[in-house]
Amino acid sequence: MRTIVILGGSSSIGKAIFNQFNNKNNKIISTYFSEGSPANTSKNNELFCVDLDNNKSIIEFSEKLISEKITIDILISLVGILPGKNLLEYTFEEIDKVLSINFTGQAKLIRNIIPLLSTKSKLLLMSSISGQKGSYDPFYAASKGALLSFVKSVLPSLPTGATINAIAPGLVQDSTMFKNMTFDRQESHKKQVNSGKLLNQDDLAKIIYDLCEDHWSHLNGACIDLNGGQYVR
Ligand SMILES: NC(=O)c1ccc[n+]([C@@H]2O[C@H](COP(=O)([O-])OP(=O)(O)OC[C@H]3O[C@@H](n4cnc5c(N)ncnc54)[C@H](OP(=O)(O)O)[C@@H]3O)[C@@H](O)[C@H]2O)c1
Repeated sequence: MRTIVILGGSSSIGKAIFNQFNNKNNKIISTYFSEGSPANTSKNNELFCVDLDNNKSIIEFSEKLISEKITIDILISLVGILPGKNLLEYTFEEIDKVLSINFTGQAKLIRNIIPLLSTKSKLLLMSSISGQKGSYDPFYAASKGALLSFVKSVLPSLPTGATINAIAPGLVQDSTMFKNMTFDRQESHKKQVNSGKLLNQDDLAKIIYDLCEDHWSHLNGACIDLNGGQYVR
């Protein structure tokens, strides 16, 4: 049985990903912050409240995983907040918070769970097109860019053979971030995609599921762009 840790399993995207992995061959350990979903708990699966903006919560969760003596086969991090503010609209506290939740907290947790990784473990972090091309919200963009540098830099600290990668989607159809936008903004995002359609959550979940299969073991320290041609590097 594989052990899958989904940080931010309660996210809109997390639900589709949970459904992809949810079968008798996988034990899924999901985290939430404010919205624990009963769908994420069952006989095989566990659900924890973790605040990635809080060192104590990060340490407690890592110690809980370590005490279970598990091997983490797959870790997918979906945690992220988008305040949607420009430089001058941010307070110092808000700057610290977005960087802490979107980057530093995830990096701290990964640092702590290194002993639970094996030579076959796969870590996948959710970046964004904003981390590559920039965004109206500079701290969201910077936090997502930091994840890209992080996956390039931590390989020497992982067990030989383990992989860590990022994915960078554009706006995802019907996600929380999509729903929080005005209709005009949603349409403007669609117009920037070559097909005129946004990536949907089920297709994204299938891509993530596949990226965690062994045939991707040569993908390491990389970022998969999923922006429909909106931003070609
Ligand atoms: N949606 C898009 O179009 C899009 C595009 C590119 C990248 N992304 C990235 O994809 C991820 C999911 O996006 P989404 O739209 O599905 O977002 P979402 O539904 O708002 O989910 C955000 C996740 O972060 C968790 N979270 C918030 N504050 C936290 C904290 N202090 N500690 C730990 N966890 C915390 C939330 O937990 P609770 O819900 O339990 O509070 C939730 O699981 C994000 O990282 C986002 O940046 C999204």
